[in-house]
Amino acid sequence: MCGIVGYIGPRTAGSMLIEGLKRLEYRGYDSAGVAMMDDNGGGLQTRKAKGKIAMLENALVASPLDGNVGIAHTRWATHGQPNECNAHPHTDCKGEIALVHNGIIENYSALRKKLQSEGHTFVSETDTEVLAHLIEAVYDDTLEDAVMDALRLVEGTYGIAVVSSKDPNKIVAARKGSPLLIGLGDGEYFVASDVAAILQHTRQVVYLDDGEMAVLTRDGYHVNDLNAVRIKKGVSRIDWDLDQIEKGGFDHFMLKEIFEQPQTIENTMRGRLVESEGFSKLGGLNLSKEELQHIDRVIITACGTSWHSALIGAMMIEEHARIPVSVEYASEFRYRNPIVTERTLCIVISQSGETADTLAAMREAKRRGAKTLGLVNVVGSTIAREDDGGIYLHAGPEIGVASTKAFTSQVVALALLTLKLGRLRDMSVVKGREVAQAMMKLPEQVQEILDRASEIEKIADEFDHATNFLYLGRGFNFPVALEGALKLKEISYIHAEGYPAAEMKHGPIALIDESMPVVFIAPHDSVFDKVVSNVQEVKARGGRVIAILSEEEPSLEGKVDFEFRIPKTIDMLYPVLAAIPLQLLAYYIANKRGLNVDQPRNLAKSVTVE
Ligand code: F6R
Repeated sequence: MCGIVGYIGPRTAGSMLIEGLKRLEYRGYDSAGVAMMDDNGGGLQTRKAKGKIAMLENALVASPLDGNVGIAHTRWATHGQPNECNAHPHTDCKGEIALVHNGIIENYSALRKKLQSEGHTFVSETDTEVLAHLIEAVYDDTLEDAVMDALRLVEGTYGIAVVSSKDPNKIVAARKGSPLLIGLGDGEYFVASDVAAILQHTRQVVYLDDGEMAVLTRDGYHVNDLNAVRIKKGVSRIDWDLDQIEKGGFDHFMLKEIFEQPQTIENTMRGRLVESEGFSKLGGLNLSKEELQHIDRVIITACGTSWHSALIGAMMIEEHARIPVSVEYASEFRYRNPIVTERTLCIVISQSGETADTLAAMREAKRRGAKTLGLVNVVGSTIAREDDGGIYLHAGPEIGVASTKAFTSQVVALALLTLKLGRLRDMSVVKGREVAQAMMKLPEQVQEILDRASEIEKIADEFDHATNFLYLGRGFNFPVALEGALKLKEISYIHAEGYPAAEMKHGPIALIDESMPVVFIAPHDSVFDKVVSNVQEVKARGGRVIAILSEEEPSLEGKVDFEFRIPKTIDMLYPVLAAIPLQLLAYYIANKRGLNVDQPRNLAKSVTVE
């Protein structure tokens, strides 16, 4: 999704802005641009390019900019084609104001008509351009006053950064519904939509909240609301390391993140699992024992991969804590009339903590009286700051667009929560210990699977020309089937579907022939025998079967085409282990097809628009 970075200070802004944009590439974009106050008397200048940041770099080589105040942007098209003209920054009629924007201006059409009738000339098809003209129209004294006046007329969402040659030593930034933070360097200041853009330069950040505006000068910064009332903000320290946002010898971030999972799972559990007592300590829940016992219904809401972990969490909680759980697509939740009471716990799962639909669903659940609990990876993200309590995943930055390590950490965090809720209810200490002991083994077991990644690579060799895939699983492994299919389709562009294995005979079986690979997730759990019958149904119709089995099962040789073994665990934790070979399979197939695994077409890392 769109990215913003800005710089003001003593250093040359250009290279820092480009480097910041490169750190944001992972979010997905289709064009990029930069605006700088040119020190050589050129005033405010912009350079833009369609396509990759390298194209913008070429534009800057052909026509260099020099200065130490600037803003830059990666655009993911919403209104108007991805082309140079629609790329940000956008400027006013005189080219004295330049602005970058994430979000959507909902009343842009009315504003544009009004501004056109007043004589403003528009050059792009974007909603963003109205903001530049609006600021021009109301400009009177300072840039910040004009931005405040303009934003009062705007409906929609925005994270913006603005510069102007009329007030040249300043960046004004404002936020409503689209993340933005200020980086505090040594005598220099940054603005960014994502901490990755500035991590190389500072770890001290100030997160802007909705309705806030920041004014950055060479001497300092301040934050106020849109009525110019100053707001005192706390400074947060980012503890991510730079090497966490670099590839560290791997060909792709996705592969690196798959291989990080023994460590990230460990990090999710660290200090939280009390093995001997079979329970978990979750400091951030902000719910007393009585409040936790008072809960009579759980709703889990999320999107995409996080929704898949929600399905697994629902089964865990119902089975072990005996609380009814429903799982809701965040995008649907607020458009119906869900049953929510003050005894409802709404669990919100989001890697980024910024997904617009998930955030809106959480706000709706809160409005209806539920307590909200965020399972979030990105510290300081909007969901993490607005929920009533939370469990941070501690999986470290996830840069690959396809979510991998966040998924396994989500499942582990849900298992921790299940222990907490279960042990406050029916779950015995013996059962609690069994779960805790199985959880402790996960990092080592994931490592064991990763050590055999080459086996999956060989299987991938057979299937990189497939055009369709079916993923089947039952019980806890049905959501894993959905997740395996999602991973494959998003990075390899092969059509893939996940189904509960037994559901196959109600329709998808019609698709099975020798060109249809079918992945069975069939560890030795309580439904294993049933899944073997489903395998036979596929083989009888000529389908090619890849089976993910657990180590204690007899071989299905003769019944399946490829077997991959995962270590033995308890039913509710098989999703953590079974997901790993499926992530690898998707990765190797996409890589063999020569695709850009880390930045698949049309996808964005965090979807901050509805
Ligand atoms: C799939 C993927 C997406 C996200 C979804 C929710 O690999 O990454 O489906 O899971 O956009 O994102 P978060 O978890 O950031 O709310």
